[in-house]
Amino acid sequence: MPLPARRRAPKGFLWGTAISAHQSEGGNTNSDSWLLETNTPTAFKDPSGDACDSYNRYKEDLDIAASLGLNCYRFGIEWARIEPAPGMFSEAALDHYVQVLEACHARKLLPMVTFNHFTVPLWFAMRGGFEVADGADLFARFCGRATEKLGPLIGMATTFNEANILGLRRVLPRFASDAAAENARNMIAAARRRTNSPQFSSMLFGDPDKIDPVMLDAHAKGYAAIKAARSDLPVGVTLSMQEIQGVGPNNRAKEAEATMYGGWIDAARKSDFIGVQTYSRLRIGDKGLLPPDGSVPVTDMGYENYPHAIGACLRYAAEHVGKPVYLTETGIGTTDDAARVKFIEATIAEVAKCIDDGIDVKGYLYWSLLDNFEWTSGYAKKFGLVEVDRTTFKRTLKPSARYFASRVKANLL
Ligand code: BGC
Repeated sequence: MPLPARRRAPKGFLWGTAISAHQSEGGNTNSDSWLLETNTPTAFKDPSGDACDSYNRYKEDLDIAASLGLNCYRFGIEWARIEPAPGMFSEAALDHYVQVLEACHARKLLPMVTFNHFTVPLWFAMRGGFEVADGADLFARFCGRATEKLGPLIGMATTFNEANILGLRRVLPRFASDAAAENARNMIAAARRRTNSPQFSSMLFGDPDKIDPVMLDAHAKGYAAIKAARSDLPVGVTLSMQEIQGVGPNNRAKEAEATMYGGWIDAARKSDFIGVQTYSRLRIGDKGLLPPDGSVPVTDMGYENYPHAIGACLRYAAEHVGKPVYLTETGIGTTDDAARVKFIEATIAEVAKCIDDGIDVKGYLYWSLLDNFEWTSGYAKKFGLVEVDRTTFKRTLKPSARYFASRVKANLL
């Protein structure tokens, strides 16, 4: 495909990919998610198992990222590995992440590190996770200890990935009252029985009313703990942001917006940057979320392929947060790689339009480098630029990876 004629990306613009620890590393046996995935009943289609074996193959992943011409690599450190028992920090796990960070630098990839991407240590979930107030202090302790060792090598940090994920869950009806919610409830009840922990709470399936205030506190305390260990490290938070479109009279778009973001816009305002993570739009009528209207194609995830949402959310973040904006995730779940190429092109066009309008978008990170563990959807959903053989873990670049590389190397927006 010929490249559209555009101008150079702003100086220092970050081109990258994003991935998370649990979704790619494999063998995260000490996490809450591992228990939920392997217990019966479960809401997960597949267990994460070996994932992409990135815990062992991270150099190969970083070599691929570097070969695409990227200058930024967003990944997660896994709390369940670093603090396998309360207050017991694993130097070996921290050393592993030192090596990953050094390998990033050796390839000129700025490491953007996520301190929490949905999973927590099993012991933390068993004591109530973020549903109990001192969960915030425990998270902050982890942030501080990890930064003491890893801080000098981290390029940018975020406390939580999609800190407002429960806000999104509230807006999406499929989690509210139907079979998925019932499956999740049964899964958590079984986990409570299995672990003999009546308070067991997992971030993705917990009670938003209880979790949200504790996570806001955890973010503030985690931010302070990271800064205490390395004051000049930029620390932000990433939010799930979808374009909210009001449809028809008396639509409840404003209400959906408030539900979706809660106190997190304010929390982002008090941080050093915001990571925008946009996948689609939400059309809101007078009764709440409307189904796709057929005017745009739907991705394999069941939501609309609507890249316009990316520009809308970058603008929203710039206007409401007023801090540097990074597009820390966007991508498309599809087996049609040509659709991914188009999505990437459309994303770049959205970023370019924002920059033309004076919005300081400082980077674009595609989700994801690899086909990986897509939470309850298991391995069937494909977001990656790179295919991963589920038996041999062989990585194979898709045409979209080569296309992304051509756009990155041209450094044009
Ligand atoms: C999450 C990722 C997830 C991706 C695609 C984001 O909400 O941060 O963990 O894999 O979306 O669904």
